[in-house]
Amino acid sequence: MKYKSVVVTKRGGPEVLQVVENDLRPPSAGEARIRILATPVVQDDIAVRVGNRPFLAKTPFVPGYAIIGTVDAVGEGVIQAAVGDRVGALTNFGGYAEYIYWDAEQLVHVPTTLDPARAVPLILNYVVAYQVLHRVVQVRPGDKVLIVGASGGVGTAFLQLGRLADLKMYGLASPGKHSVLAEHGATPIDYHTQDFVEVIRQMEPDGLDFVFNGMGEEYFERGLRVLRRGGTLVHYGGPRSFARFLLLIAKLILYNVLPNGKAIKGYGTHTGEIGPFKEDWTKLFTLLDQGHINPIIAAKFPILEAAQANELLESGRVTGNVVLLAPELLDLPQLT
Ligand SMILES: NC(=O)c1ccc[n+]([C@@H]2O[C@H](COP(=O)([O-])OP(=O)(O)OC[C@H]3O[C@@H](n4cnc5c(N)ncnc54)[C@H](OP(=O)(O)O)[C@@H]3O)[C@@H](O)[C@H]2O)c1
Repeated sequence: MKYKSVVVTKRGGPEVLQVVENDLRPPSAGEARIRILATPVVQDDIAVRVGNRPFLAKTPFVPGYAIIGTVDAVGEGVIQAAVGDRVGALTNFGGYAEYIYWDAEQLVHVPTTLDPARAVPLILNYVVAYQVLHRVVQVRPGDKVLIVGASGGVGTAFLQLGRLADLKMYGLASPGKHSVLAEHGATPIDYHTQDFVEVIRQMEPDGLDFVFNGMGEEYFERGLRVLRRGGTLVHYGGPRSFARFLLLIAKLILYNVLPNGKAIKGYGTHTGEIGPFKEDWTKLFTLLDQGHINPIIAAKFPILEAAQANELLESGRVTGNVVLLAPELLDLPQLT
């Protein structure tokens, strides 16, 4: 039997994504074979495809940072999952496919009551926001925060989880997306035309408790300026080139040794053990199930139309999440 996946054939634009056919093999010992129901399209897929992270993947490779699917076969010794189970995984690669093989120990069980399209942003975008808010720092009700990149997939997760945590939120976004920030109780700032340092200093003369930065290290200096003494900037933005990655590390060290009474912390999903992720995913599934969070799905595409979905995310028109779905889960694609 055969299955299809979407492969980055060489570095470049969305057109380098091509559908290929593979043999469906039995899973190896310890592996589950999963029929993919949903996978998100995220900024990091684009960064790796265009060559901004050459050290992470050599072509050809299948992008796809996270999945939700149904276990279709299990290899020898697998006790963590059984055929028919609904599972999720943080894969980093491989999600743009009809099937994936994954280490059964790394899987999380996903309630079948959840819509896979709405649940799949929890596997990456929401867990990033959740862990920054509750593990990297421990926010408290009333804390004042700035979200840099507030309209994106991770940014809107911050808005929803920040509202649940009773934070006073400011967010940087393009003007066409300000209504979404306002709907979540955040004060939007247009970073194209407004000096956010000035705006925040006027509105919060005592400074902010936290800045959450999903962009580059160019936000460090201004981010620190809006913090109160003792405040923390958490950086989770992916580097845009290897040179920028080195600059990021240098600035992380530099700003932390300067005696400014403020700290910069870094966050990355790559560095974590699976245990806390499973714990946090389970909490997030409950929040979704109970209606406390509701990921914004800007558009849905068939998995094999990943190139069109990448083009849309790259256009900058998206508020929230773009997801790729198995054919039976698709209704009409819509851009909100
Ligand atoms: N550390 C980790 O493990 C991890 C995991 C996931 C994601 N990330 C990182 O998180 C970041 C966001 O990812 P995503 O998938 O959420 O991206 P996304 O959905 O494409 O959203 C990014 C947002 O950034 C905004 N933006 C673009 N240029 C900006 C600028 N110069 N200043 C301020 N905002 C700007 C855009 O909003 P407007 O249109 O409103 O300008 C866009 O909505 C990326 O850097 C990604 O690498 C890191």
